[in-house]
Amino acid sequence: MPVVYLETYGCQMNLADTELLLGHLGRSGYARTDDPSAADVLLLNTCAIREHAQERVMSRLGELRHYKAGRPNVQIGLAGCLAQHLRDRLLASVPFLDFIVGPDSYRRLPELLAQGAAFVDVRLGREETYSDITPERADGVRAWISIMRGCDKFCSFCVVPYVRGRERSLPASAVLEQVRAAVAAGHREVVFLGQTVNAYRDGDVDFGELLRRASAGLERIRFTSPHPCDMTEAVIAAIAECDAVCPQLHLPVQSGADTVLARMERGYTTEQYLRLVERLRASKPGLALNTDIIVGFPGESEGDFEATLELMREVRYDNAFMFKYSRREHTKSFAWPETVSEAEKGRRLQAVIELQERIAAEINQELIGQSVPVLVEGPARRGEGWRAGKTPQFKTAVFAAGAATIARGTTVPVQVRSATAHTLVCELRGA
Ligand code: 5AD
Ligand code: SF4
Repeated sequence: MPVVYLETYGCQMNLADTELLLGHLGRSGYARTDDPSAADVLLLNTCAIREHAQERVMSRLGELRHYKAGRPNVQIGLAGCLAQHLRDRLLASVPFLDFIVGPDSYRRLPELLAQGAAFVDVRLGREETYSDITPERADGVRAWISIMRGCDKFCSFCVVPYVRGRERSLPASAVLEQVRAAVAAGHREVVFLGQTVNAYRDGDVDFGELLRRASAGLERIRFTSPHPCDMTEAVIAAIAECDAVCPQLHLPVQSGADTVLARMERGYTTEQYLRLVERLRASKPGLALNTDIIVGFPGESEGDFEATLELMREVRYDNAFMFKYSRREHTKSFAWPETVSEAEKGRRLQAVIELQERIAAEINQELIGQSVPVLVEGPARRGEGWRAGKTPQFKTAVFAAGAATIARGTTVPVQVRSATAHTLVCELRGA
């Protein structure tokens, strides 16, 4: 039996794709290993979103070379977004690389591998959703389920539409079957995934309707990442009315300056975004908001950057992913001269991080004394007997279990004792 070793880089969609690859390869006769020296096929599932992600993959690829020493039949390959992004260029520049498969070519992978020759398959399809392939999910509390693939938004900075292709949704029946299977396998929380997850549509079933159908019988459900422009009234209503839908939303804003948003081609103004935040908060009590922010976009002035800080102060996000703009080939903004120096990007990034850390710590400290339900995921690094899990707002909570046996996957009430920007330190209620 051939043996495959797989490493994943990048976002949750890539982690879900790895589970898909493992399921597909598994049914095609491959065994899986965590030991690269025992593998016949070494595969990196890669990310292309920023230059830094690309550098990490390329340096790891270099390290894999030595697994071929004395074992010439070992096949080394790249899957995912960077594979799609660099394509055959990679085969020419990395002589020990055997194959390259893009995100829409996983179905043919077992067949191509069996041929034993080098190959590049990076055709993007408009239809492929892999809805008939059962993923091999990591056993855990949370099940990540891809419900749509690709993106049609073409934000001017983003490589995703070029490496993942056009937007397409899985049939609702296939999604609901995956939810059912995940619950049957013991997962307690479902996370719907998609590059613009709320653009989901299968005939009459839009994202709101899918949420309603999926949440019946579920303990917790979340989704990532929605696009502000696809946050329809129907979706907002479903979020508000389904108790299983957690009060937590990742709502990427990218910038707080209208001129920058327009050049990013995000499709909303800060005012529209802020109004959406207001509507969401009014309809879902206790809603935690997370976001993505890019600093140093071409043309971002000091005033534009200040506007981003101001928007962050106004919204008060619970958490944020913050990035320096990275110029990516194929994107529209690739042609635009960079106007913010690397040093200045660093300064701006530091400033947004500091502001966000302060706000997150303040928000979390307001929770001190409150009781929150924690879905326990396993031991916490803090010490013997400590457990860690997530609150409905997707905050990490840790607590000492003492003599109590608390299994992974149980939800327990805890009281918040102290808090930092990223962690709630809690006590078991009644302890
Ligand atoms: N440079 C920096 N950040 C980017 N992102 C996407 N493309 C780029 C880029 N070229 C960020 C956006 C997006 C998140 C997934 O990654 O904030 O929401
Ligand atoms: Fe990229 Fe914009 Fe699509 Fe998000 S919505 S994946 S940022 S192009």
